[in-house]
Amino acid sequence: MAERAKVAVLISGRGSNMAALLYASRLPDCPFEIALVASNDPDAPGLALAEAEGVPIFALNHKGVPRAQFEAILDREIRAAGANYVALAGYMRLLSPEFVARWQGRILNIHPSLLPKYRGLDPHDQTLAAGDTVAGCTVHIVTDDLDDGPILGRIEVAVLPSDTRETLSARTLIAEHQLYARCLADFVSREASPEWILDQIRQRALALPEAEEKSSHGSPGFRVKGGKFFAYFSYDHHHDGVTGLIVKTSGVEEQAMLIDAEPDLYYRPAYLGPSGWIGIRVDQGEIDWEHIGRWLRKSWSEVAPRKLQALAEFLG
Ligand code: GRF
Repeated sequence: MAERAKVAVLISGRGSNMAALLYASRLPDCPFEIALVASNDPDAPGLALAEAEGVPIFALNHKGVPRAQFEAILDREIRAAGANYVALAGYMRLLSPEFVARWQGRILNIHPSLLPKYRGLDPHDQTLAAGDTVAGCTVHIVTDDLDDGPILGRIEVAVLPSDTRETLSARTLIAEHQLYARCLADFVSREASPEWILDQIRQRALALPEAEEKSSHGSPGFRVKGGKFFAYFSYDHHHDGVTGLIVKTSGVEEQAMLIDAEPDLYYRPAYLGPSGWIGIRVDQGEIDWEHIGRWLRKSWSEVAPRKLQALAEFLG
């Protein structure tokens, strides 16, 4: 199996969702592992369980520590643990926009309501007060707004006439434990899929001036409108088993230098290789998207008409 995604789970209390993720990660073929369980409360019961299960833990009481400082320490610990995703599981501190930005699109949260209904505290009370017959839970990507952000999955839970906040929350919790592990697994796997990678490339390529997508010999390609191509996406081309982005260098010398320096990252693509194009592998684990963005821009500059380049420079 490919390397598993490393997840840091943030908790403030009981940690039953953390436990659900942890035990799911112990199933064969689970695409994630728990690299760290961190808490803003050193007495959080979930910490003791994580420790007993041999998971690295980190706790720091947030009281009296300025938010920015607290989050800087948390951020450092998460990175030191090698985590590339953060899962909030009953984490009762709001995260600042700066922290969310640093982990953009990589923080997930679970909320015990069918979002967008009943954001914030006490969703079960709100469900019962409203007389709803259906409650539920939601996993979503964290953005700056509380309990908002793209929804990754939801499970509906029936409300019984006899339900109290305790019985409803206990039953919803069972659904939460199923939902979180599944959504997290799907989410981390998605990033390894060629469709997702192509979509990331597409967004960056089409953001360049006058860029358009045009397929070329069956591969997705990007060119300056009506003009020359500056990038191709290569997926298992002629069954070579490689997923790569093919861009133009200044020539075969630069191409050779790059391959020499980083043979695991760069390769000489068939057909286009002799004219100085280079392949960048995007199937070797974590992708440096800034690096890909720079290459797309550079390749675009190799082929874009001078006038357009001058305009692009002028516009910054
Ligand atoms: C869960 O209901 C979760 O949806 C909410 O906080 C609760 C945490 O429970 N965000 P636990 O600590 O995971 O047991």
